Amino acid sequence: MSRIFITGSSDGLGLAAARTLMKGGHDVVLHARSSERASAISEISPTALGIVIGDLASATETRSIAEQVNAIGRMDAVIHNAGIYLERSRGETPDGHAKTLAVNVLAPYLLTAWITRPDRLVYLTSGMHRSGSSALDDIDWKKRPWNASQAYSESKLYIATLAAAVARHWPDVLSNAVDPGWVPTKMGGAGAPDDLEMGHLTQTWLGASEDKAAKVSGGYWYHRQRREAAPEMTDAGFQDALVDTLAGLTGVHLFAERR
Ligand SMILES: NC(=O)c1ccc[n+]([C@@H]2O[C@H](COP(=O)([O-])OP(=O)(O)OC[C@H]3O[C@@H](n4cnc5c(N)ncnc54)[C@H](OP(=O)(O)O)[C@@H]3O)[C@@H](O)[C@H]2O)c1
Repeated sequence: MSRIFITGSSDGLGLAAARTLMKGGHDVVLHARSSERASAISEISPTALGIVIGDLASATETRSIAEQVNAIGRMDAVIHNAGIYLERSRGETPDGHAKTLAVNVLAPYLLTAWITRPDRLVYLTSGMHRSGSSALDDIDWKKRPWNASQAYSESKLYIATLAAAVARHWPDVLSNAVDPGWVPTKMGGAGAPDDLEMGHLTQTWLGASEDKAAKVSGGYWYHRQRREAAPEMTDAGFQDALVDTLAGLTGVHLFAERR
């Protein structure tokens, strides 16, 4: 049985993944943005290994989340699930970043650096990553007029690319990206056509299964099938340019060899 930390497990796919893993006998550490949001999962939190609190839009709170997780102990797997979709404006996080970039990319990047390295990492991306752009000169939306859909697509290209970069730089870790499909959560909306069940079972499988097929790294997955992602994801040059850009924005270097 594994110890698994899931970001954004107060709702949607993260909560569904937590329930499935807990039913399977795994020790799950839950995460909610605030104590108020933690109360939404008071029905399952007593049987979880722990619950950590913090807003991923803030680097300080993200640091605290990593410290809370590390205080519980080393995780076997971390599922970077939390995300936001169409924000009305760029927003401005306490660190001055676009909120979509901060929550969807900078926070999982920082948590990857700060949480004691697990055996497996899973990052939630989206089919919309294909509309992302390989231009990295304005990933924080300081020059361009705000475009919520483009910002989300780019964030999902970056997170899929981060998954592949981790797989390449850390051969001892299984790191994969998952597109859950368009599913009926708070984010997906009630009319979403895809299957919520299939939408969360790939990340739980990659995070915990002993199946040989689940013990691979660097993949882009949809419904437990490996799929072709946008070519940038597997482009080592783009991966390294991205991680260098993220290091520049956060002041945190993920890969020692790129310091
Ligand atoms: N649903 C889809 O159709 C779809 C499609 C493709 C990809 N995805 C991806 O799948 C992942 C999960 O999506 P979902 O549909 O389950 O979304 P959701 O129902 O909106 O749930 C998102 C989770 O992330 C948490 N979260 C958001 N911002 C946060 C912040 N600043 N600090 C801490 N927690 C935060 C939310 O907390 P609160 O409950 O407090 O808001 C919630 O627990 C996302 O990465 C999303 O991009 C979803």
